[in-house]
Amino acid sequence: ARKRKESMLAAHDLVAKLYHHLLLNTDHGVQARNYLLNRHIQLATIEEFGLGYSPDRWDFITQHLEKSGFSPFLMEEAGLLSRKDRNSRPFDRFRGRVMFPIHNSQGQVVAFGARTLGDEQPKYLNSPETPLFNKSQLLFNLHRARAQIRKQQEAVLFEGYVDVISAWQAGVHNGIASLGTSLTEQQARIIRRNAETVILCYDSDQAGIEAAFKGADLLVAAGCTVKVAQMPKGMDPDDYIRQYGGERFRQEILLNAASLTAYRLQVIRSRYALHDETERMKFIHEAIEEISLLQSAVERDHYLRQIAEEFHLSLDAMKLEQKKIRKQQK
Ligand code: CTP
Ligand code: MN
Ligand code: MN
Ligand code: MN
Ligand code: MN
Repeated sequence: ARKRKESMLAAHDLVAKLYHHLLLNTDHGVQARNYLLNRHIQLATIEEFGLGYSPDRWDFITQHLEKSGFSPFLMEEAGLLSRKDRNSRPFDRFRGRVMFPIHNSQGQVVAFGARTLGDEQPKYLNSPETPLFNKSQLLFNLHRARAQIRKQQEAVLFEGYVDVISAWQAGVHNGIASLGTSLTEQQARIIRRNAETVILCYDSDQAGIEAAFKGADLLVAAGCTVKVAQMPKGMDPDDYIRQYGGERFRQEILLNAASLTAYRLQVIRSRYALHDETERMKFIHEAIEEISLLQSAVERDHYLRQIAEEFHLSLDAMKLEQKKIRKQQK
């Protein structure tokens, strides 16, 4: 088994270098080079992340691997090749895509994320689960960002590969991403081992907001302090950086990340028409419910005061209401 894994690792290393070479130095890579340029991904970043291109051929990698002495069937198990069924011949899994190498914590390439140049589906094709690649236990870019994350005791968690890469280019070197799935318990524990605080920096769409709530719960359960950075509606971090620049991303999005409670209150608030008195009362009630869930009395007091001041209510009345709610919650 050990030998098989070593062979799979060697193949990933070889193929990653080949994809990278094809992107930068050959005619195969022209379109992909232009694609990355258009997305403002610089040459130095392509080098840093080892980005590549898989030619639009059925047997390019297949032949290369075979010539280098790798068993096609083992390479299919490694996720580099595909097969129609058990009896047919393996062929290149990734064709005509920009290749994002995914590394394990030791910095070895164990998988790829692969994006189309156009709008074909699926937009991203990832390596399957293999003996090398356990999606639920890996975080994209962790091996590169770990030193910085530990030093700052803070990680920025993104949705996408390109968000991590754009942010890196903007000088944010503590960015990581879960791999095309929602955050898992194991990933949350890994993050906690490296940092105290996590800034969630997900896309500003319905999917992103839901993912942020789910991820936040897991991170809090793992013992992290969670903050939430918010992008203008419809944008993701990469869109924002391209439009407004890295400086503004760091100053206005990351530094202004809200505490998780402030963020939750804001989302609750957005559901009510606060100029209407009945709605306002409903909002205040729901807000107190949310605040009651906080473990820390100091934090509860802080947010209750905020709402009391904003809506000109007495803190005593708020606390009374909260006591009732806490009894019901028990
Ligand atoms: N993803 C995936 N498969 C898909 C779509 C998305 O694995 N078919 C994963 C990828 O890891 C992607 C992340 O989910 O990076 C976030 O998805 P999305 O926001 O749709 O993609 P972006 O990262 O914004 O991609 P791009 O900017 O290249 O369009
Ligand atoms: Mn290079
Ligand atoms: Mn998204
Ligand atoms: Mn996105
Ligand atoms: Mn994007």
